[in-house]
Amino acid sequence: MNHRFPQDKIDAIYEAIQARRDIREFNQEPLPEGLMDRLFQAAHFAPSVGYMQPWRLLHIKNPKLRSKIAELVEHERLTTAEQLPSRQRDFLKLKVEGLSSCQEVVVISLMHGREAHIFGRRTMPEMDLASASCAIQNMWLAARAEGVGLGWVSFFDPHALADLLKMPRDATPIAILCIGCVDSFPDKPLLDTLGWGQRLQMADVVYTDTWPENAKSTPVSY
Ligand SMILES: Cc1cc2nc3c(=O)[nH]c(=O)nc-3n(C[C@H](O)[C@H](O)[C@H](O)COP(=O)(O)O)c2cc1C
Repeated sequence: MNHRFPQDKIDAIYEAIQARRDIREFNQEPLPEGLMDRLFQAAHFAPSVGYMQPWRLLHIKNPKLRSKIAELVEHERLTTAEQLPSRQRDFLKLKVEGLSSCQEVVVISLMHGREAHIFGRRTMPEMDLASASCAIQNMWLAARAEGVGLGWVSFFDPHALADLLKMPRDATPIAILCIGCVDSFPDKPLLDTLGWGQRLQMADVVYTDTWPENAKSTPVSY
């Protein structure tokens, strides 16, 4: 039996992977009908360690909450700038979130009660984070295929955000997602275009058998 997708569907999958971008600038066009439900479904079909499905998706609709979230992000952005060894000015010019122009905001959190789940996590408890990250990537790719931008924002104090959203003590927010329509999708990551990094060569990231003696780490540019 042939389990292969038709070639045009295979091409579409690779195209979504390569054309996906982190988006921080949105226009005000309406989102496609039913988009948010489809993105939530895409997230919920992600793989997860021990099938624990640790993701919890908080769709932020209250404008007051949204502006408080934006304040937390701004506070963290300024704190990060203070701690950079150099290039603070360049950093402060960077757009690191699209909260003011996006249409929808979703906070992705790890669920409470995770410690009871040891299946696949006994030696690596962070596999819950890995699983929820798969859910976010599903949303990111689905949004790109729908022609919609999505940006992952991680500039926030998780405890402050958890308090704001009345989360249980052991639930941990890991992402603020900004979602909206875009004028265009850049060909390259913004941080690449602005000289903060470049895509590594395949040979620098794919090894055979053992770790090469001359293996490079990713250079830091700040
Ligand atoms: C875990 C994670 C956290 C991120 N946090 C932020 C963020 O807080 N602000 C931001 O502007 N981009 C954030 N990004 C986006 C990255 O900067 C972006 O993925 C990277 O520069 C490559 O660009 P691309 O996603 O367009 O390919 C994050 C991405 C990941 C995977």
